[in-house]
Amino acid sequence: MRTKFLLAFVIVLALCSCSWSAEIPGFTPDMRDSQVMPPNNFICQTMLVGSKLVSFRSWIDIPYEANSPEPEYNRLNVYVPEEYFNGQSINGFTAKTAPIFMPNGVGGYMPGRQFVPANDNRHGGPNVTLYALSRGYVVVAPAIRGRTLENGKAPALIVDYKAAVRWVRHNKDKLPAGDTEKIISDGLSAGGALSSLLGATGNAKEYEPYLKEVGAYDERDDIFASAVYCPITNLENADMPYEWIFNGVNTYHLGPAREMDENMKKASDALKAAFPAYLNGLKLEGYTLDENGNGTFRDYIEGLYVSAAQKALDAGENVLGLDWLTVEGGKVTAADLGKYAVWATRMKAAPAFDSLNMKSFENNEFGDKHFTEYAFKNSTAEAPAMADAEKIYVMNPMNFIGKEGVDTAKHWRIRHGVKDRDTSLAVPAILALKLRQSGYDADVAAVWNVPHDGNYDLEELFAWLDSICK
Ligand code: DHB
Repeated sequence: MRTKFLLAFVIVLALCSCSWSAEIPGFTPDMRDSQVMPPNNFICQTMLVGSKLVSFRSWIDIPYEANSPEPEYNRLNVYVPEEYFNGQSINGFTAKTAPIFMPNGVGGYMPGRQFVPANDNRHGGPNVTLYALSRGYVVVAPAIRGRTLENGKAPALIVDYKAAVRWVRHNKDKLPAGDTEKIISDGLSAGGALSSLLGATGNAKEYEPYLKEVGAYDERDDIFASAVYCPITNLENADMPYEWIFNGVNTYHLGPAREMDENMKKASDALKAAFPAYLNGLKLEGYTLDENGNGTFRDYIEGLYVSAAQKALDAGENVLGLDWLTVEGGKVTAADLGKYAVWATRMKAAPAFDSLNMKSFENNEFGDKHFTEYAFKNSTAEAPAMADAEKIYVMNPMNFIGKEGVDTAKHWRIRHGVKDRDTSLAVPAILALKLRQSGYDADVAAVWNVPHDGNYDLEELFAWLDSICK
């Protein structure tokens, strides 16, 4: 009782210590005419992270594109830890050195609203925005267009994320804190794909016309690091590795469990057979596949599952009793990808992304069009159409890694759940190998017991971010 009273008292004190704007903070209509950081329109908030009070100032709903086709949508929020207004430091960072964390809320290639700090993490405790503030990071959270908005199809999402980065750079001197050379992206699933795209494509000229069209600032849009969870990326090549893993598992579980029809099974066989040529064509040094899909790349993928299981075992979790995993004397020694697929079960019918009926999320993202030759040629849609090649190109981070004139982020952390069947683990793994081969620091791992999800390991994520930022 006494501690509760004390805590309430401290919260009131903390709230009072923050200098308050005289206007209704954050929501004045004149802000809508301005893309510039409004100095006095902030709200003060204090929240608990565990037993620690975290105070910060929030600037809400700032437009970041001068000619956005969805001006009510293209807004961002800025959150700055209160300490930075008093010359104090947090976690070794100061107002000048604090990294700028930019999470995106895109999922299913749908529009994503600005993240808001709260204790609403479905894994318990603070969400990634509040947690970042507690670790001394400045947060800039943009809303981003997605496929269900009239003007939200590909490549709107990456145009917006880049425009938000450019807004940050343009307002460098007006932001109360934050190091614009330490911008970090974060997202999961389609948002993970978006995080990879932002990280991979810094300053690539291909986006310039789109950025001009929405009225983005003329600034650099490269970033320092990307946090990527279960990215639904490399879309035009993702159907092949899905079948490389799930071929032969014919029941799919998107909605009620159903059997793949003959067209789908034929697609599964063809796409599985096509994967080795694609993989070998990437020329990832030391990673190849023979025509049956066996070889060092397969060993690598199985090894990622082995490492995930070993880490869980070392942490006291039970990994025993699975027919696809060999554990001997406290050591996980092997994973069998064929048996893994049966255990994990298939989520999507073949082709997993470019659906034969042209009705997947990804088809919709490309304007209800196909984006692979296989699905286009074998389409069952009434009026099959192919997406614009240039749009497919600018939606794939793989096209920009190692490309001249592109400033790819130096640091990457890529995570994919062991129970995730939304895309093949090969997709994030290939991304990581390509990054490493091009000289970037890419930390990739599968995570035990985790389904299609992200931001579940905030302590580890921020330990990694601290290590690269300090
Ligand atoms: C997402 C999941 C999918 O399975 C997919 O195909 C696209 C996006 C998502 O959760 O964002």
